[in-house]
Amino acid sequence: MSSDSPDRGEPRVLLTAAQIDEIIARLAAAMSARYPDGAVLIGVLRGSVPFLADLVRAMTVPVSVDFMAITPYTPDSGRVRLLKDLDLDIAGRDAVIVEDIVDTGLSTAFLRSELERRRPRSVAVCTLLDRRVRRVVPVEIDFAGAEVSDSFVIGFGLDHEGRYRNLRLIAAADMELLAADPDAYVPVLYGSGD
Ligand code: IMP
Ligand code: MG
Repeated sequence: MSSDSPDRGEPRVLLTAAQIDEIIARLAAAMSARYPDGAVLIGVLRGSVPFLADLVRAMTVPVSVDFMAITPYTPDSGRVRLLKDLDLDIAGRDAVIVEDIVDTGLSTAFLRSELERRRPRSVAVCTLLDRRVRRVVPVEIDFAGAEVSDSFVIGFGLDHEGRYRNLRLIAAADMELLAADPDAYVPVLYGSGD
């Protein structure tokens, strides 16, 4: 069993809000240093939104923001498809794909090849979380936040059936528990309200 696996019934906090802030400050500094003339940051909907919002505000160079959406890879579909394309033209510009987590790498590899066809000056990948143990296709990651092991994670953009995205922390979830009840962690993670 991996060290960050959840305890029964209690999600295990992997990253506190303060730790996430520190990671984002480090990534923003590295990206600001790499792109003194700015870059186009491309958020992958919807999981990257909280991360992207904090990242751009911590960067100290001019950035543009755009979004893409894709269908997740499933064994049935056998491929990833584009659901929402960029509005901006990235030809000749430095583009950075911003992801919540790179897991199998299939989404990121697909997005990178899509973007490369548009003749940008460069394409880089920035991800808050990197789960290398699950990689199916190799992906070069230029800016990586934290590495996580095999457990499913929720919070700070990462969801289970649309829930938990707005948590300030990131926790490892017990998938058996969530499969039985997707709201299982709502009381403990959102409190009782008093
Ligand atoms: P990949 O194509 O397998 O690398 O992963 C693509 C997407 O799957 C990520 O951008 C996430 O939206 C989602 N994902 C992968 N692992 C997790 C997780 O542990 N929690 C929530 N979403 C995840
Ligand atoms: Mg995602």
